[in-house]
Amino acid sequence: DAPKPLAGRTAIVTSGPTHEPIDPVRYIANRSSGRQGHAIAAALARLGADVTLVSGPVTIADPQGVVTVHVERAEEMRDAVISRLPADIAVMVAAVADWRVAASAEQKIKKKPGEAPAPLQLTENPDILKTVGHHEHRPKIVVGFAAETENLEDNGRAKLERKGADLIVANDVSPETGIMGGTRNSVKLITKVGVEQWPDLSKDEVADRLAQLIADRLAGA
Ligand code: C5P
Repeated sequence: DAPKPLAGRTAIVTSGPTHEPIDPVRYIANRSSGRQGHAIAAALARLGADVTLVSGPVTIADPQGVVTVHVERAEEMRDAVISRLPADIAVMVAAVADWRVAASAEQKIKKKPGEAPAPLQLTENPDILKTVGHHEHRPKIVVGFAAETENLEDNGRAKLERKGADLIVANDVSPETGIMGGTRNSVKLITKVGVEQWPDLSKDEVADRLAQLIADRLAGA
């Protein structure tokens, strides 16, 4: 049997986008397939961790060996994550919408011929990673992602500090990279001591490497 260095450890992973309703038929969302987050949940489970995956709306299947909780909105995702603390490991991969509609409509907003569309009033969503990173039951290892189109390292390092994370996995999501929605990923790993460029890997390989690195860190290696 494969070694299970994370046996007895609990992990919470977020994945996918969140959908913030405008009205019952419309929403605001970031682009996210959920592929990387789901792969990380499965990889942690393969190393023996007891994994809860909190996923926004995605079209891919629930990973094997993992308890998957399905949510729609950022506030639901936050509540699902916080209710599962304490945990040993948190990996926040979801592309959470930064804003939600301040007062979403209970009925479908009708377009009125000849009238200008109603402006949307937005309000900030909770930052789930930051909440977990500063929580009294903060997991031993908190990992965040940074999807950037420029200044990967500076933005990643700033994020590490601000969000109270131990590790930031930063990837360049410029359209020409094909990473968004694709199966491959090219990431930089940002820690308090430096930056490490990983080679071009599949999202499953990134997940396996990250899970192994988390296991090594927890073991004090
Ligand atoms: O600030 P930014 O969205 O670039 O940060 C990305 C990281 O923070 C990711 O790990 C993402 O899952 C997490 N995040 C979060 N809640 C938010 C926004 C981002 O958990 N509202």
